[in-house]
Amino acid sequence: MTQITLLTPDDWHLHFRDGDMLQETVPATARLFQRAIVMPNLLPPVTDAKMVNAYRERILAARPQGSSFEPLMTLFLTNDTTKQDIIDAKAAGVVAAKLYPAGATTNSDAAVKALDSLFPIFEKMAEIGMLLLVHGEVTESHIDIFDREAIFIERNLTRIVDVFPSLKVVFEHITTKEAAEFVASTSDNVAATITPQHLLLNRNDLLVGGIRPHNFCLPVLKRNIHQQALRAAVATGSNKFFLGTDSAPHEKHRKESACGCAGCYSAWGALELYAQVFDDLGVIDKLEGFASTHGPDFYGLPRNTSTLTLIKETWTVPSEIILPNGKPIVPFFAGEEVNWKVKG
Ligand code: DOR
Ligand code: ZN
Repeated sequence: MTQITLLTPDDWHLHFRDGDMLQETVPATARLFQRAIVMPNLLPPVTDAKMVNAYRERILAARPQGSSFEPLMTLFLTNDTTKQDIIDAKAAGVVAAKLYPAGATTNSDAAVKALDSLFPIFEKMAEIGMLLLVHGEVTESHIDIFDREAIFIERNLTRIVDVFPSLKVVFEHITTKEAAEFVASTSDNVAATITPQHLLLNRNDLLVGGIRPHNFCLPVLKRNIHQQALRAAVATGSNKFFLGTDSAPHEKHRKESACGCAGCYSAWGALELYAQVFDDLGVIDKLEGFASTHGPDFYGLPRNTSTLTLIKETWTVPSEIILPNGKPIVPFFAGEEVNWKVKG
């Protein structure tokens, strides 16, 4: 197949950041996606309805002229989140709240230190129909970084799903065989997003031949058996897996540093890279479900009605992009060839 037309996709997990960075990130995503679930890990984090409303306005103001792109807003959970915060957020149009274990990733120091004390909040979310989005990694320093996701499932996720069977949970950016198996075999109220980097790469692409800081993200890339398990999961066409790029920009000097930030800025090529993966797997016919229908169906939102066409044509991801503040950023897959391209 050399051309495929899909219902316009949505990105069910990304980081737009804030300030003048929005002039770069919002148009880059609005070019191809109709909606996006916007992560709340700003500094300070987006913890109440007032902050959500203000952040949404800043995102809308950064849309290109005439764009109908819609940001779907999320709330950052902390141990100070109240049931009233959840009710107010829902009234402000928030579709989901994000659970970051404190310290798990970028800007998460203010996040959840005591998971069980959030159970009354999860109960309220289940009651009013707000989804729980989970960064699924334990954070204890003695636990090996490559094991943190699998241990989070055993210790925490299984319990949350058991105690709140009606709570819709998205296990975000899964990276392991254990996660893919857990999601496939558990309740229909549990789904997962998968990033392009975790489908395309494994930890060799991070560490062999020198450290590749632009492939560093969290959860960290795992060994190839895990990459294969994620590829096998999307190839089944199961509606429990859908597109979430985790596009997470950091300026070049913050990635190429003695203590480099985690995150791949994939908005520029993510959709085409997913197409490449599905094509390599011989399942390009399953791309539309992953990119355009499984996500809205799980969230209980309408599917998009417009379409977008991808053609088989080779192009090269730019080696750098200059941000509105004049500083460079290196996009994910910089300088590499991609063999699918969005038409027009
Ligand atoms: O690689 C990542 N970057 N993973 C996350 O969970 C957060 C993100 C960021 O905000 O930079
Ligand atoms: Zn993320």
